[in-house]
Amino acid sequence: MLKPEIEDGQQSLADPQFRADVLAGLARRPRAIPARWFYDRRGSELFEAITDLPEYYPTRTEAGILATIGPELAGLVGAGRAVVEFGSGSSAKTPLLLRAVNPSAYVPIDISGEFLRASTQGLCADFPELLVLPMEADFMRPLTLPRTIGGAPKLGFFPGSTIGNMIPLAAVDLLRAMRASLGEGSMLLIGMDRIKGEDVLVPAYDDAAGVTAAFNLNLLERINRELDGTVPVAAFRHRAIWNDDRARIEMHLEAARNLDFSVDGRSFTMAAGDTIHTENSHKYGARDARILLRSGGWTPVHEWTDADGRFAVILAEAQAERPAP
Ligand code: AVI
Repeated sequence: MLKPEIEDGQQSLADPQFRADVLAGLARRPRAIPARWFYDRRGSELFEAITDLPEYYPTRTEAGILATIGPELAGLVGAGRAVVEFGSGSSAKTPLLLRAVNPSAYVPIDISGEFLRASTQGLCADFPELLVLPMEADFMRPLTLPRTIGGAPKLGFFPGSTIGNMIPLAAVDLLRAMRASLGEGSMLLIGMDRIKGEDVLVPAYDDAAGVTAAFNLNLLERINRELDGTVPVAAFRHRAIWNDDRARIEMHLEAARNLDFSVDGRSFTMAAGDTIHTENSHKYGARDARILLRSGGWTPVHEWTDADGRFAVILAEAQAERPAP
Protein backbone atom coordinates (compact mmCIF):
# COMPACT_ATOMS: atom_id res chain seq x y z
CA MET A 1 0.00 0.00 0.00
CA LEU A 2 2.75 2.41 0.89
CA LYS A 3 4.54 4.26 -1.87
CA PRO A 4 8.28 4.91 -2.35
CA GLU A 5 9.61 7.38 0.14
CA ILE A 6 11.15 10.78 -0.51
CA GLU A 7 14.25 11.82 1.43
CA ASP A 8 13.82 15.10 3.32
CA GLY A 9 15.11 18.00 1.29
CA GLN A 10 15.83 15.78 -1.68
CA GLN A 11 14.40 16.89 -5.02
CA SER A 12 12.51 13.88 -6.34
CA LEU A 13 11.37 13.20 -9.86
CA ALA A 14 7.60 13.10 -9.69
CA ASP A 15 5.95 9.79 -10.49
CA PRO A 16 4.34 10.31 -13.93
CA GLN A 17 1.24 8.47 -12.73
CA PHE A 18 0.96 10.88 -9.76
CA ARG A 19 1.13 13.85 -12.16
CA ALA A 20 -1.46 12.29 -14.48
CA ASP A 21 -3.84 11.38 -11.61
CA VAL A 22 -3.62 14.86 -10.02
CA LEU A 23 -4.07 16.80 -13.27
CA ALA A 24 -6.97 14.62 -14.41
CA GLY A 25 -8.48 14.56 -10.90
CA LEU A 26 -8.51 18.37 -10.59
CA ALA A 27 -9.97 18.78 -14.08
CA ARG A 28 -12.86 16.33 -13.65
CA ARG A 29 -16.15 16.93 -11.80
CA PRO A 30 -16.50 15.96 -9.06
CA ARG A 31 -12.79 16.56 -8.35
CA ALA A 32 -11.09 13.42 -7.02
CA ILE A 33 -7.53 12.19 -6.50
CA PRO A 34 -6.82 8.48 -5.71
CA ALA A 35 -6.05 7.79 -2.04
CA ARG A 36 -2.90 5.81 -2.90
CA TRP A 37 -1.07 9.14 -3.29
CA PHE A 38 -1.40 9.90 0.45
CA TYR A 39 1.54 7.64 1.20
CA ASP A 40 4.76 9.58 0.69
CA ARG A 41 7.13 9.45 3.69
CA ARG A 42 5.20 12.10 5.65
CA GLY A 43 1.87 10.52 4.74
CA SER A 44 3.07 7.08 5.87
CA GLU A 45 4.25 8.55 9.19
CA LEU A 46 0.92 10.31 9.66
CA PHE A 47 -0.96 7.09 8.89
CA GLU A 48 1.09 5.27 11.56
CA ALA A 49 0.14 8.07 13.99
CA ILE A 50 -3.55 7.67 13.03
CA THR A 51 -3.45 3.99 14.00
CA ASP A 52 -2.56 5.04 17.60
CA LEU A 53 -5.31 7.67 17.95
CA PRO A 54 -7.97 7.04 20.61
CA GLU A 55 -10.73 7.66 18.01
CA TYR A 56 -9.25 5.34 15.34
CA TYR A 57 -10.47 1.96 16.62
CA PRO A 58 -9.83 -0.34 13.55
CA THR A 59 -6.12 -1.12 14.04
CA ARG A 60 -6.24 -1.95 17.73
CA THR A 61 -9.58 -3.75 17.42
CA GLU A 62 -8.31 -6.01 14.63
CA ALA A 63 -5.04 -6.70 16.50
CA GLY A 64 -7.11 -7.59 19.59
CA ILE A 65 -9.14 -10.10 17.54
CA LEU A 66 -6.01 -11.65 16.00
CA ALA A 67 -4.41 -11.94 19.43
CA THR A 68 -7.26 -14.14 20.71
CA ILE A 69 -8.15 -16.39 17.76
CA GLY A 70 -4.79 -18.15 17.34
CA PRO A 71 -5.69 -21.71 18.45
CA GLU A 72 -9.07 -21.71 16.68
CA LEU A 73 -7.54 -20.28 13.51
CA ALA A 74 -4.75 -22.85 13.60
CA GLY A 75 -7.35 -25.63 13.81
CA LEU A 76 -9.22 -24.31 10.75
CA VAL A 77 -6.16 -23.51 8.64
CA GLY A 78 -3.76 -26.32 9.62
CA ALA A 79 0.02 -25.98 9.89
CA GLY A 80 2.46 -25.67 6.98
CA ARG A 81 0.65 -23.21 4.72
CA ALA A 82 2.61 -20.51 2.91
CA VAL A 83 1.30 -17.18 4.22
CA VAL A 84 1.01 -14.56 1.46
CA GLU A 85 0.44 -11.03 2.80
CA PHE A 86 -0.99 -8.46 0.38
CA GLY A 87 0.66 -5.15 1.30
CA SER A 88 3.50 -6.11 3.60
CA GLY A 89 2.75 -5.30 7.21
CA SER A 90 4.89 -3.15 9.44
CA SER A 91 2.52 -3.65 12.35
CA ALA A 92 2.14 -6.18 15.14
CA LYS A 93 -0.51 -8.09 13.17
CA THR A 94 1.78 -10.22 11.01
CA PRO A 95 3.71 -11.81 13.95
CA LEU A 96 0.36 -12.63 15.59
CA LEU A 97 -0.71 -14.57 12.51
CA LEU A 98 2.66 -16.25 11.91
CA ARG A 99 2.82 -17.47 15.52
CA ALA A 100 -0.71 -18.85 15.27
CA VAL A 101 -0.47 -20.81 12.01
CA ASN A 102 3.14 -22.05 11.98
CA PRO A 103 3.63 -21.49 8.23
CA SER A 104 6.10 -23.15 5.85
CA ALA A 105 6.96 -19.77 4.28
CA TYR A 106 5.99 -16.10 4.41
CA VAL A 107 5.60 -14.10 1.19
CA PRO A 108 5.02 -10.36 1.82
CA ILE A 109 3.97 -8.52 -1.36
CA ASP A 110 4.26 -4.77 -1.77
CA ILE A 111 4.62 -2.37 -4.68
CA SER A 112 7.35 -0.46 -2.82
CA GLY A 113 10.60 -2.47 -2.62
CA GLU A 114 12.05 -0.03 -0.11
CA PHE A 115 9.13 -0.39 2.28
CA LEU A 116 9.09 -4.15 1.73
CA ARG A 117 12.73 -4.52 2.78
CA ALA A 118 12.29 -2.34 5.88
CA SER A 119 9.20 -4.18 7.08
CA THR A 120 10.56 -7.70 6.49
CA GLN A 121 13.90 -7.09 8.23
CA GLY A 122 12.32 -7.06 11.68
CA LEU A 123 10.27 -10.17 10.91
CA CYS A 124 13.33 -12.15 9.82
CA ALA A 125 14.94 -11.32 13.18
CA ASP A 126 11.83 -12.46 15.09
CA PHE A 127 11.33 -15.64 13.02
CA PRO A 128 14.88 -16.81 12.17
CA GLU A 129 13.71 -20.28 11.04
CA LEU A 130 11.02 -18.99 8.69
CA LEU A 131 11.55 -18.91 4.91
CA VAL A 132 10.73 -15.26 4.01
CA LEU A 133 10.35 -14.49 0.29
CA PRO A 134 9.49 -10.80 -0.26
CA MET A 135 7.92 -9.94 -3.62
CA GLU A 136 7.96 -6.44 -5.12
CA ALA A 137 4.77 -6.47 -7.18
CA ASP A 138 1.37 -4.89 -7.72
CA PHE A 139 -1.02 -7.31 -6.04
CA MET A 140 -4.01 -5.70 -7.76
CA ARG A 141 -3.19 -8.03 -10.67
CA PRO A 142 -2.85 -11.84 -10.63
CA LEU A 143 0.80 -12.76 -10.01
CA THR A 144 3.07 -15.79 -10.04
CA LEU A 145 4.24 -16.73 -6.55
CA PRO A 146 7.87 -17.80 -5.93
CA ARG A 147 8.56 -21.36 -7.13
CA THR A 148 10.31 -22.12 -3.82
CA ILE A 149 6.99 -22.41 -1.99
CA GLY A 150 6.08 -25.15 -4.45
CA GLY A 151 2.87 -27.02 -3.78
CA ALA A 152 2.38 -25.74 -0.22
CA PRO A 153 -1.25 -24.71 0.36
CA LYS A 154 -1.58 -20.94 0.66
CA LEU A 155 -3.12 -18.61 3.22
CA GLY A 156 -3.64 -15.06 1.96
CA PHE A 157 -3.61 -12.29 4.58
CA PHE A 158 -5.21 -8.90 3.88
CA PRO A 159 -5.69 -7.07 7.20
CA GLY A 160 -6.50 -3.47 8.10
CA SER A 161 -9.79 -3.18 6.17
CA THR A 162 -7.75 -1.94 3.22
CA ILE A 163 -10.36 -3.63 1.01
CA GLY A 164 -12.67 -0.83 2.24
CA ASN A 165 -10.61 1.78 0.39
CA MET A 166 -11.79 0.31 -2.92
CA ILE A 167 -15.18 0.81 -4.50
CA PRO A 168 -17.04 -2.55 -4.52
CA LEU A 169 -16.27 -3.16 -8.23
CA ALA A 170 -12.53 -2.78 -7.64
CA ALA A 171 -12.76 -4.82 -4.41
CA VAL A 172 -14.30 -7.74 -6.32
CA ASP A 173 -11.61 -7.48 -9.02
CA LEU A 174 -8.94 -7.59 -6.31
CA LEU A 175 -10.49 -10.60 -4.56
CA ARG A 176 -10.62 -12.44 -7.88
CA ALA A 177 -6.99 -11.52 -8.61
CA MET A 178 -6.02 -12.88 -5.17
CA ARG A 179 -7.87 -16.10 -5.88
CA ALA A 180 -6.08 -16.45 -9.22
CA SER A 181 -2.71 -15.80 -7.54
CA LEU A 182 -3.25 -18.19 -4.61
CA GLY A 183 -5.15 -20.93 -6.44
CA GLU A 184 -8.02 -23.26 -5.64
CA GLY A 185 -7.90 -24.73 -2.14
CA SER A 186 -6.21 -21.65 -0.73
CA MET A 187 -7.60 -19.65 2.18
CA LEU A 188 -7.84 -15.92 2.83
CA LEU A 189 -7.88 -14.13 6.19
CA ILE A 190 -9.25 -10.64 5.66
CA GLY A 191 -10.08 -7.73 7.97
CA MET A 192 -13.23 -5.69 7.29
CA ASP A 193 -14.53 -2.73 9.24
CA ARG A 194 -18.22 -2.94 10.16
CA ILE A 195 -20.99 -0.38 9.70
CA LYS A 196 -21.67 1.51 12.93
CA GLY A 197 -22.98 4.84 14.20
CA GLU A 198 -21.75 8.14 12.80
CA ASP A 199 -20.88 9.12 16.37
CA VAL A 200 -18.05 6.56 16.20
CA LEU A 201 -17.24 6.60 12.48
CA VAL A 202 -16.86 10.33 11.89
CA PRO A 203 -14.44 11.04 14.79
CA ALA A 204 -12.35 8.03 13.66
CA TYR A 205 -11.71 10.01 10.45
CA ASP A 206 -11.77 13.51 11.99
CA ASP A 207 -9.90 13.22 15.27
CA ALA A 208 -9.63 15.92 17.92
CA ALA A 209 -5.83 16.21 17.58
CA GLY A 210 -6.11 16.90 13.83
CA VAL A 211 -3.83 14.05 12.73
CA THR A 212 -6.25 12.80 10.06
CA ALA A 213 -6.68 16.39 8.86
CA ALA A 214 -2.89 16.68 8.52
CA PHE A 215 -2.83 13.31 6.66
CA ASN A 216 -5.45 14.56 4.18
CA LEU A 217 -3.86 18.03 3.75
CA ASN A 218 -0.41 16.46 3.23
CA LEU A 219 -1.66 15.42 -0.21
CA LEU A 220 -1.75 19.11 -1.15
CA GLU A 221 1.75 19.65 0.32
CA ARG A 222 2.94 16.71 -1.77
CA ILE A 223 1.39 18.21 -4.91
CA ASN A 224 3.18 21.51 -4.23
CA ARG A 225 6.49 19.74 -3.54
CA GLU A 226 6.53 17.22 -6.35
CA LEU A 227 4.40 18.80 -9.05
CA ASP A 228 5.52 22.42 -8.80
CA GLY A 229 2.15 23.40 -7.32
CA THR A 230 0.96 26.70 -5.82
CA VAL A 231 -1.97 25.21 -3.89
CA PRO A 232 -2.76 27.45 -0.85
CA VAL A 233 -2.91 24.59 1.66
CA ALA A 234 -4.07 26.82 4.55
CA ALA A 235 -7.18 27.70 2.51
CA PHE A 236 -8.40 24.07 2.60
CA ARG A 237 -10.37 22.27 5.33
CA HIS A 238 -10.42 18.54 6.04
CA ARG A 239 -13.89 16.98 5.82
CA ALA A 240 -14.96 13.46 6.85
CA ILE A 241 -18.53 12.59 5.84
CA TRP A 242 -20.59 9.41 6.33
CA ASN A 243 -22.29 8.53 3.03
CA ASP A 244 -25.07 6.22 4.22
CA ASP A 245 -26.28 5.33 0.72
CA ARG A 246 -22.85 3.92 -0.15
CA ALA A 247 -21.98 2.80 3.40
CA ARG A 248 -18.68 4.64 3.41
CA ILE A 249 -16.73 7.41 5.07
CA GLU A 250 -15.56 9.91 2.47
CA MET A 251 -12.67 12.26 3.00
CA HIS A 252 -12.66 15.54 1.11
CA LEU A 253 -10.54 18.70 1.00
CA GLU A 254 -12.86 21.70 0.96
CA ALA A 255 -11.93 25.17 -0.31
CA ALA A 256 -12.60 27.74 2.46
CA ARG A 257 -12.74 30.58 -0.10
CA ASN A 258 -12.56 31.12 -3.88
CA LEU A 259 -9.15 29.91 -5.05
CA ASP A 260 -6.81 30.06 -8.05
CA PHE A 261 -3.69 27.92 -8.18
CA SER A 262 -1.49 26.06 -10.62
CA VAL A 263 -0.06 22.55 -10.75
CA ASP A 264 2.65 21.61 -13.22
CA GLY A 265 1.97 24.85 -15.14
CA ARG A 266 -1.80 24.23 -15.43
CA SER A 267 -4.27 26.66 -13.85
CA PHE A 268 -7.20 25.58 -11.67
CA THR A 269 -9.96 27.46 -9.86
CA MET A 270 -12.20 26.37 -7.01
CA ALA A 271 -15.15 28.21 -5.49
CA ALA A 272 -15.65 28.41 -1.71
CA GLY A 273 -17.24 25.10 -0.61
CA ASP A 274 -15.96 23.08 -3.61
CA THR A 275 -14.17 19.88 -2.59
CA ILE A 276 -11.54 17.44 -3.82
CA HIS A 277 -12.61 13.87 -2.93
CA THR A 278 -9.54 12.06 -1.61
CA GLU A 279 -10.64 8.76 -0.01
CA ASN A 280 -13.46 6.28 0.48
CA SER A 281 -13.51 3.87 3.41
CA HIS A 282 -16.34 1.40 2.88
CA LYS A 283 -17.85 -0.40 5.86
CA TYR A 284 -19.49 -3.82 5.56
CA GLY A 285 -22.28 -5.43 7.55
CA ALA A 286 -21.93 -9.18 8.20
CA ARG A 287 -24.04 -10.18 5.17
CA ASP A 288 -22.52 -7.50 2.92
CA ALA A 289 -19.06 -8.86 3.71
CA ARG A 290 -20.09 -12.42 2.84
CA ILE A 291 -21.65 -11.34 -0.46
CA LEU A 292 -18.55 -9.34 -1.35
CA LEU A 293 -16.30 -12.34 -0.64
CA ARG A 294 -18.50 -14.73 -2.64
CA SER A 295 -18.56 -12.25 -5.55
CA GLY A 296 -14.76 -12.40 -5.51
CA GLY A 297 -14.68 -16.23 -5.56
CA TRP A 298 -14.17 -16.80 -1.81
CA THR A 299 -16.47 -18.89 0.39
CA PRO A 300 -16.65 -17.61 3.98
CA VAL A 301 -15.67 -20.31 6.51
CA HIS A 302 -15.59 -18.51 9.84
CA GLU A 303 -15.68 -14.99 11.20
CA TRP A 304 -14.59 -13.36 14.41
CA THR A 305 -15.50 -9.94 15.79
CA ASP A 306 -14.65 -7.95 18.89
CA ALA A 307 -17.17 -7.85 21.76
CA ASP A 308 -18.76 -4.63 20.40
CA GLY A 309 -19.01 -5.96 16.83
CA ARG A 310 -16.97 -3.06 15.48
CA PHE A 311 -14.60 -5.01 13.25
CA ALA A 312 -14.60 -8.46 11.62
CA VAL A 313 -11.80 -10.85 10.70
CA ILE A 314 -13.09 -13.38 8.18
CA LEU A 315 -11.57 -16.66 7.03
CA ALA A 316 -12.64 -17.73 3.53
CA GLU A 317 -11.72 -20.54 1.17
CA ALA A 318 -11.24 -20.69 -2.61
CA GLN A 319 -13.50 -23.66 -3.24
CA ALA A 320 -14.05 -25.15 -6.68
CA GLU A 321 -16.55 -23.00 -8.60
CA ARG A 322 -19.95 -24.68 -8.76
CA PRO A 323 -22.58 -23.70 -11.32
CA ALA A 324 -25.83 -22.32 -9.87
CA PRO A 325 -28.18 -23.27 -8.32
C1 AVI B 1 -5.60 2.25 5.11
N1 AVI B 1 -7.03 2.39 5.36
C2 AVI B 1 -7.63 1.11 5.70
C3 AVI B 1 -7.40 3.49 6.28
C4 AVI B 1 -8.93 3.54 6.48
O1 AVI B 1 -9.38 3.47 7.61
O2 AVI B 1 -9.66 3.63 5.48
C5 AVI B 1 -6.87 4.82 5.77
C6 AVI B 1 -7.28 5.97 6.63
N2 AVI B 1 -7.72 7.13 6.19
C7 AVI B 1 -7.95 7.94 7.18
N3 AVI B 1 -7.71 7.31 8.31
C8 AVI B 1 -7.27 6.08 7.97
